[in-house]
Amino acid sequence: MTPSAFMRDIWHRKPLLIRQAVPEIVPPVSREALFELADRDDVESRLVSFFRNRWKLEHGPFSEDNLPSRKTGKWSLLVQGVNLHDRAAAELMSQFRFVPDARLDDVMISYATDGGGVGPHFDSYDVFLLQVSGRRRWRISSQTKLDLIPDLPLKILSDFSAEQEWVLEPGDMLYLPPQYAHDGVAEGECMTASIGFRAPAYRELAGHFLAWLSETVADNEGLDGRYADAGESATSTPAQLPANLARAVAERLQSLKWNAGMVSEFLGTHLSEPKPSVQFDEIEEIPLRQFTKLARTHGVVLAPASVALYDRTHFFLNGEAYEPPASLAKWLRRLADRRQLTASEVEACVALPDLMDTFHDWAMEGWLQIAPKRV
Ligand code: SIN
Ligand code: CO
Repeated sequence: MTPSAFMRDIWHRKPLLIRQAVPEIVPPVSREALFELADRDDVESRLVSFFRNRWKLEHGPFSEDNLPSRKTGKWSLLVQGVNLHDRAAAELMSQFRFVPDARLDDVMISYATDGGGVGPHFDSYDVFLLQVSGRRRWRISSQTKLDLIPDLPLKILSDFSAEQEWVLEPGDMLYLPPQYAHDGVAEGECMTASIGFRAPAYRELAGHFLAWLSETVADNEGLDGRYADAGESATSTPAQLPANLARAVAERLQSLKWNAGMVSEFLGTHLSEPKPSVQFDEIEEIPLRQFTKLARTHGVVLAPASVALYDRTHFFLNGEAYEPPASLAKWLRRLADRRQLTASEVEACVALPDLMDTFHDWAMEGWLQIAPKRV
């Protein structure tokens, strides 16, 4: 199935099983590497177990001796944001970039022992569940009754009646739209990658937008200054909110203005903000000339954790908005779409004003890297 047929007929509408979506799949991380990630405090990890008929949820970091034995069944270790730390996982995620980056969230990889899983549940977002090693039995249901068992540490459906079921082998993949009930149980040890999406909630966006708008001072001088009440008369009802205060604030709020371009600028800034756990690796300061030489020789790539977006007028990187002239915008858009510029593309950028300075600044922040040598 082509990405366009998938987006037209399936995406956000109905589940789809794709046998051998990734033939001869190589797990992006080994079990050992996944366990090492789960031991880091800048990585979000969870341990879900179902021992003696009880669900238990623990949060990482976990050292290997803190995990149950691999011979014990019914537990599962879930590591969020593997794409932020590992190039192979980032490359796996990039295969799903037929969906815009603004909708892509992260790659979560789970390791489970026999019988392990997180129980029957539903998620609020679209997900591709790609089997990377071993086997997992998936059961799914279109049920609309989505009540949860109360007082459990994780979301488990109180009634789950499966309508379809399959055993997924390495390379097989199951797509599920939001709110679709599912339960995946490991058959022997296995690893599953969840390519997850995000869809901003309007109410949450509105709060962030108003905060952003009030800081865009240049366009909203109406908000400059403070309430002043020279000439206010003495009061005998001191607890009463002054009517003048409410009137003045209402007037200033009414002067707040925005247009579609500002909404787009806000979205680019907000949606390119790195996740709170992300720490970019600081690199040893190198002079601009040396950086330029390396970039011309090897090309540049965005760091796996960098988020780059653009709209008609702006380029956004990790929560910063830039308004580049057209000659620069062309290269920045290419960098955002491909996440890299080849050596010859960098060569074409060298003559452009300020671009190498900007790349150098981003490199020092850890946002942009010299491309790794191809082997
Ligand atoms: C898992 O990998 O065990 C859980 C994925 C999911 O059901 O969302
Ligand atoms: Co799920």
